[in-house]
Amino acid sequence: MAVLQITPQTGPLQGTVTVPGDKSLSHRAVLLGALATGESTVRGWLPAGDTRATLAAMQAMGVEIAVEETQSAAWDLRISGRGLRGLRPSAAPLDCQNAGTCLRLLAGIMAGQDFPSTLTGSEQLRRRPMNRIVMPLTEMGARIDADGGTAPLAISPAALQGISYRMPVASAQVKSAILLAGLYARGQTRVYQPGPARDHTERLLTAMGIPLAVDGNWITLPAPPDGGWTLEPLDLAIPGDISSAAFPLVAAMIVPHSRVKLAGIGLNQTRTGLLALLAQMGASYTVSNRNTTGGEPAGDIGIAFEELQATAAAGEVVVRAIDELPIWAVAATQAMGPSHLRDAAELRVKEVDRIAVLAAELQKLGVPVDERDDGLTIAGPVRPAGGNVSSHGDHRLGMALAVAGLVARAPTRIHEAEAIADSFPGFVETMQALGAHMEWLP
Ligand code: S3P
Repeated sequence: MAVLQITPQTGPLQGTVTVPGDKSLSHRAVLLGALATGESTVRGWLPAGDTRATLAAMQAMGVEIAVEETQSAAWDLRISGRGLRGLRPSAAPLDCQNAGTCLRLLAGIMAGQDFPSTLTGSEQLRRRPMNRIVMPLTEMGARIDADGGTAPLAISPAALQGISYRMPVASAQVKSAILLAGLYARGQTRVYQPGPARDHTERLLTAMGIPLAVDGNWITLPAPPDGGWTLEPLDLAIPGDISSAAFPLVAAMIVPHSRVKLAGIGLNQTRTGLLALLAQMGASYTVSNRNTTGGEPAGDIGIAFEELQATAAAGEVVVRAIDELPIWAVAATQAMGPSHLRDAAELRVKEVDRIAVLAAELQKLGVPVDERDDGLTIAGPVRPAGGNVSSHGDHRLGMALAVAGLVARAPTRIHEAEAIADSFPGFVETMQALGAHMEWLP
């Protein structure tokens, strides 16, 4: 297992970097491109552990995907879409590895196929809750056997009908699974979201010619026309993942005298909660070169070191920052006073229980943290002590702890750091390019 060592930073972080393509969009581009009628082109696709699992699953079902490795952390894809009804059964179970997005979105697609399939993943993924999709899909008529509400999921062919479903939690994976199954259903499909979950599926389906209607918190997929839906192919340039940019961004804010620019980052409103939280803490960032990439707002983010104030993160902004809360917690360790996180119980069902693991690992670094059912209280400012910590196999925990190490008093070693490649291949090289003292131990 790989160990990443961080030596306390003696100088500032400086420079302009890009980060790999958006993970949520990369999963969706492959899933939807495979179902389109005709060839889709996708540029800047993220070749990370999670998204490669989605690519392999679609290839296993007969989808031809030509890959051009333009850079080690950015691929261009040409996906020969087979149409909504063109997938072929896979000889082996479809293995989503650590990727919840792969498994939950694929379940929506597989529920509508006329052949059976099995969806599985790593030990980590097989611990995560699947009833959140199994229940609504079953209500649509799907036949899914999920032993104890976890993967593997055994899906049998069934006729689907549309439903009107109120999601109990604001989850993009759940709404996407329902909408994807809805493409195969009779009648209209409606989903209510209690908060602003990321809307990439809705944007892509719309770009592919599906007349989705969004009215407040309700999303409606109309009944299909005679003969069923046809998805037009995609021509997509994927912007940089704000969830990856979050790590160099917070690093630049907490390492004295730093000034960093992150170029070409996706700025979809459902994803920018971290920027709102940092602004609340007194950080000033600039956004320049605004443009639209792949139907999503994007731009360059400029950020510099700043003395931060404590803050409270609760409500809607938590949904918009859900994947950034580990690195927000690291920013909070450097802020004046106690920062509070609430309404974040969903963190307990991510790659790991991120509330428990964040509390435990930050405490190991000497940061006073109180854990609550739906969040944390973090005392600041405190210089982490350094020492040995673990990612627990969670990419975002690994990167957040690495950033904490930059402002520690002594070297920090992150164990199980190979998990970082699940979402951010090249993380260490990107940080090194900014002058960060990070290296893999032999
Ligand atoms: C994702 C949705 C979010 C997010 C995950 C990616 C997606 O999960 O945390 O990393 O691509 O749809 P939930 O849908 O469980 O909120």
